Amino acid sequence: MLLYTTAFAALLAAAPSFIPPVTAASSKRGLAFTPNETTRADDKIWVEKPTSLTWYYNYEPRPEPVYSDVSQSEFEFVPMMWGAPDSIDDTSFLSTVESLIKDQGVNITNVLSFNEPDGPFVYGGSNMEPSAAAQIWVNNMIPLQELGVRVGLPACTGGSSGLPWLQNFLVECSKLVSTENEQRNCTYDFVTIHWYGNFEGLASHMGQYSAAFPNKTMWITEYNLNEQSLETTQTFYNMSAEYFDRLESVERYSLFGAFRSDVSNVGPNAAMLSANGSLTDIGAWYLGREPTGILPGSSSAAFRPVLPRGSIAALVALVAVAVLT
Ligand SMILES: *[C@@H]1O[C@H](CO)[C@@H](O)[C@H](O)[C@H]1NC(C)=O
Ligand SMILES: *[C@@H]1O[C@H](CO)[C@@H](O)[C@H](O)[C@H]1NC(C)=O
Ligand SMILES: *[C@@H]1O[C@H](CO)[C@@H](O)[C@H](O)[C@H]1NC(C)=O
Ligand SMILES: *[C@@H]1O[C@H](CO)[C@@H](O)[C@H](O)[C@H]1NC(C)=O
Ligand SMILES: *[C@@H]1O[C@H](CO)[C@@H](O)[C@H](O)[C@H]1NC(C)=O
Ligand SMILES: *[C@@H]1O[C@H](CO)[C@@H](O)[C@H](O)[C@H]1NC(C)=O
Repeated sequence: MLLYTTAFAALLAAAPSFIPPVTAASSKRGLAFTPNETTRADDKIWVEKPTSLTWYYNYEPRPEPVYSDVSQSEFEFVPMMWGAPDSIDDTSFLSTVESLIKDQGVNITNVLSFNEPDGPFVYGGSNMEPSAAAQIWVNNMIPLQELGVRVGLPACTGGSSGLPWLQNFLVECSKLVSTENEQRNCTYDFVTIHWYGNFEGLASHMGQYSAAFPNKTMWITEYNLNEQSLETTQTFYNMSAEYFDRLESVERYSLFGAFRSDVSNVGPNAAMLSANGSLTDIGAWYLGREPTGILPGSSSAAFRPVLPRGSIAALVALVAVAVLT
């Protein structure tokens, strides 16, 4: 399962021999915003003070109205182009972001590109061919880079299809920007990583990225250890937060867990909110606060220890991704 590259060996050498407290706030932390219509009051939890969260994304090009009273410099909105538009020539992502910058004066400095383009729609992937994705990138991302906006490489799944997809994408993209006389490459400002699985797998996966894309900083925009006991999940949380905070190559990260435990598709213990909408220990640590001692299953109704049936399919998909890697 682990691939021992030189870069991975270097990362392992830097692995912690002890885990210092992780209650400290970190400016690298952000919110992967996945609201639920039935619990919109939870949205405010992430911006209540004190919070260590400095940025967010919502898988969309436009910011959330619920955060309109929080300034961009305090809580940076990062637009995302989730997947392919209806037509390959469509540049509405570009015009939306340009309009945010030019008409609305929003200081957009970073943009995220495609969400799991190597994954099928049923598991939340945007299911794109590298060649089509390249054309869409050329149409939408390069003009933003020319405006000085930093753009992240697409965020592939943590499965084995990710790196080959990215390599194909870069080859296709570079063909589009090259001419007969001049070879050019598509450029990107940081790589974007998703991971579901244990800490050793995470470190190995990051090692593969640093070998494939030397000298690029990383944003880990979705990660968690899915469907494990509370203690195992908390240990993973602690180790990964300490690791990300310490590594200079990690620029930003966002835990996939800003939802209630009873609607979690990564297992109840990975959620940052309990079933009744309070921060769990992991949720509180992530915001840089003292632990709450509230268990994920805590509910105003009777305690429900079993996983809701609705999340089984998503869970199987996530486990499959972890096993493939
Ligand atoms: C995680 O870190 C917190 C804060 O340092 C600590 O209180 C807790 O015991 C740790 N939990 C595990 C399982 O390592
Ligand atoms: C939103 O919450 C409701 C009520 O708990 C739940 O039935 C539904 O599955 C949730 N939706 C998502 C997308 O998680
Ligand atoms: C926009 O954000 C960048 C990055 O945080 C910062 O360096 C720059 O000063 C900001 N510009 C304005 C006009 O606020
Ligand atoms: C383009 O990228 C390839 C592969 O990484 C590299 O070998 C080549 O030197 C680059 N060309 C330019 C013009 O930067
Ligand atoms: C790595 O990136 C830094 C900062 O962008 C740059 O100064 C340095 O020259 C780069 N090193 C290599 C080997 O490309
Ligand atoms: C959720 O339940 C826990 C445990 O009973 C309780 O401490 C907490 O205040 C409750 N949260 C809300 C928002 O009701």
